[in-house]
Amino acid sequence: MTTQRGAARSSGPAYTSILGDDRTPAPAPLRAEAYEWIDTDEIEIARYTSRAYHELEMRHLWPSTWQMACRLEHLPETGDHLVYEIGDLSIIVVRVSATGLKAFHNSCLHRGTTLVEGRGNSAVFRCPFHGFTWSIDGTFRGMPASWDFPHVDGPGFCLPEAAVATWGGFVLVNPDGTAPPFDDYAASLDEHFAPYPLDDRYVAHHACQVVDANWKTTQEAFMEGYHVSTTHPHTVRFANDFDCAYDVFDPNVSRLIQPLAVPANHLIGQVGQAEMASVIQKMLPAQDRREVPDEVDARPWLADRFRESLGRRWRCDLSDASEAAMLDSIQYFVFPNFFPWAGYAIPITYRFRPWGDDPNRSLMEIMLLHPKPDGGEWETAEPFWLEPGESWTRAPGFESLGMVIDQDMDNLPRVQRGLRAARHRTITLSDYQEIRLRHFHQRLDEVVGRHDDSV
Ligand code: FES
Ligand SMILES: [Fe+2]
Repeated sequence: MTTQRGAARSSGPAYTSILGDDRTPAPAPLRAEAYEWIDTDEIEIARYTSRAYHELEMRHLWPSTWQMACRLEHLPETGDHLVYEIGDLSIIVVRVSATGLKAFHNSCLHRGTTLVEGRGNSAVFRCPFHGFTWSIDGTFRGMPASWDFPHVDGPGFCLPEAAVATWGGFVLVNPDGTAPPFDDYAASLDEHFAPYPLDDRYVAHHACQVVDANWKTTQEAFMEGYHVSTTHPHTVRFANDFDCAYDVFDPNVSRLIQPLAVPANHLIGQVGQAEMASVIQKMLPAQDRREVPDEVDARPWLADRFRESLGRRWRCDLSDASEAAMLDSIQYFVFPNFFPWAGYAIPITYRFRPWGDDPNRSLMEIMLLHPKPDGGEWETAEPFWLEPGESWTRAPGFESLGMVIDQDMDNLPRVQRGLRAARHRTITLSDYQEIRLRHFHQRLDEVVGRHDDSV
């Protein structure tokens, strides 16, 4: 008998049934189910390996999509600016007033020099080559020997703008200054993050690494839980794998939820609640661990431990957070490369980019966003650059999470190497657990086009 496409599921408990057993009701968005099968069976390997496809992305994808540039906290003062780069694109994001941000293409209108590099604060953008100068709002201020440029119309000589938006404390840019608003682009996000707004967070840790794999190869390694039992086998006694929830909410937003303190389906009944409680609480500092009662219900007991421990360390009140918000991995994706997570136990944000002009390398970044302390001070972490291949356990704040990330990273050069070695034409995706990859590639087809004959 052939299973209808999209109907296949593991025989384990659905995520919604796990929520149904929780003591504290989960926020409504976590109970929303929005899976639908997508017919993307033909995903050519060339889109991960070929320079031609990479160049199509440079021409059609990055210049016209919304991308996370930084956090608002990176630009607190008027005149603070930061350069966001992807491929050949270079965008200046600048605070122009207490409430206003602007974004400009970072290229002098005289002979093209980049106007600024990295981060800084300035009252104007003055080109270091010949001194053409613009106000931070993009209006032209003048150049040396202006008598030699009678043809330059000062008022019309503004810096070309990119679109800029804010959401959840993030600053997003779209290099296309005429792009439709971000609120329309990712309309479902506000409702989903209302129970745990990311505006109230700050960058407690930030780490980056160049990876020997295409940017899509790298980010897709984090978009499904299907790999967990093979790549992270030590975790399946306390974190479910094949029964994760997968949802696609609108063309640019999808979600993966992996429940904690629920073993893999084949281990249900074999792993006791006390064992799960005991193993999982090792994620917390030793002084925050408690003796596990013999008769324990692991999820509510652990949620209490996490509320206490994280609330104390982060100096904030987490007493209203549900078990699901406290424990589960709740990962959202905003096309094409931005992954804000909801919930608390693993407060991750991912961003993936091509590394320079190389289709076989990418830049992976993780920010850990902690809640701002109630009435206290906090400090934004600077990015910590790991060497290629260096263990993520070396990055501040990633000491325990790093071991799991290392397991993912070990795969990636092999995946990319194998894709380049392939003599078959397409990859083969599952119907349920890899639906977010199907959804991502469907959108990629729409934006980049299939362009099959050019790759
Ligand atoms: S290139 Fe910028 S002033 Fe000449
Ligand atoms: Fe993984």
